[in-house]
Amino acid sequence: MRAGRPRRSGLIGWALLAVAMLLLAGCANADLPQDALSPEGPVARQQDQLWDIVYPIAIGVFVFVQLGLLVVMWRFRSRGDDTAIPHQLHGNTKLELLWTIIPALILAIIAVPTTRTIFALADEPDDALQVRVIGKQFWWEFEYTGEEGQGVVTANELHIPTGRPVFLSMEALSPQIPDSVVPGEESDERNPQSLDGVIHSFWVPKLAGKQDVVPGHVRTMYIEADNPGRYEGQCAEFCGIGHAVMRFEVVAHDPGDFEEWLTAQAEPAFDGQSGLAAQGKELFETAGCIACHAINGYETSGGGAAGVRVGPNLTHFASRSIFAGGLFDNSDAEQLAAWLRDPQSVKQGAQMPNLGLSEEQIEALVAYLQSLK
Ligand code: CUA
Repeated sequence: MRAGRPRRSGLIGWALLAVAMLLLAGCANADLPQDALSPEGPVARQQDQLWDIVYPIAIGVFVFVQLGLLVVMWRFRSRGDDTAIPHQLHGNTKLELLWTIIPALILAIIAVPTTRTIFALADEPDDALQVRVIGKQFWWEFEYTGEEGQGVVTANELHIPTGRPVFLSMEALSPQIPDSVVPGEESDERNPQSLDGVIHSFWVPKLAGKQDVVPGHVRTMYIEADNPGRYEGQCAEFCGIGHAVMRFEVVAHDPGDFEEWLTAQAEPAFDGQSGLAAQGKELFETAGCIACHAINGYETSGGGAAGVRVGPNLTHFASRSIFAGGLFDNSDAEQLAAWLRDPQSVKQGAQMPNLGLSEEQIEALVAYLQSLK
């Protein structure tokens, strides 16, 4: 009896572990913002339906194999008194055929809906809204292309209409900050902008599966949302020190509201600042901001086209809710000030340099940014 006790406590340990795993599995919750198992659009739904087929089969295989293992471990356990080497087997044609044919059949069965879904999602849908997505270090840029897009460029927030596919053409570019902008640099010559990107992965779990965004390639996918709302996204490929905070949001509107949003975004920036905000506006042009950030409607607006520009387009900055890769709240003056004071200390790996601004300058710039509705 004594010899049996450690074995029994081992079994109890395994049983407790199994119960804990089952309980933890209960933590999955459709209300969580990034639950891939609660699809909220047709693309995610098709992928989820595929999971509904494959998962039970995988569970069946797992249970069958584990039960077989337990049976064999029990039946052929050491009896204590038999020291001889067990009977040796060399080949069993019937068994080998079985464990080749059955898995091949299972894979063939799974291949049918998988292939069908891959092809169904590979085509560009009709009447899709066209958006160019650029993965930068470490934030996402969105450019609405074609005539419909009116040249609108945003960052961190991808606004889409509900009930309509949105076709994404995705690239990875990492333009580097010009030397002349960094205080203390003598040279006023711009570095040739390096566009070598790193691999990111665009993932909005409730709207679609992941798509890698790879330097030197244009990858495509489409997403669609059933209902208006905010859908949290996250870069899902380790891309450097700022990877964990390379977040974004997809904001879905009713089609009418989306049209309104797009029209407002296409307008040039608000130009009627006064007081502190007017001081901020002047600073924006003189302190170096304009070298990397565009503000539509300004002659001096710098940094080139979307994609090769280093920083986000700030034309309607105050109409967005999040900045710096979704890390901070646009309406929070304290967070904006902390960012301008020392970007590196609040978001590691950010390209935005510390411009050595005084507290008065920071206050003015915050007032200016918050006036850009
Ligand atoms: Cu971009 Cu991880």
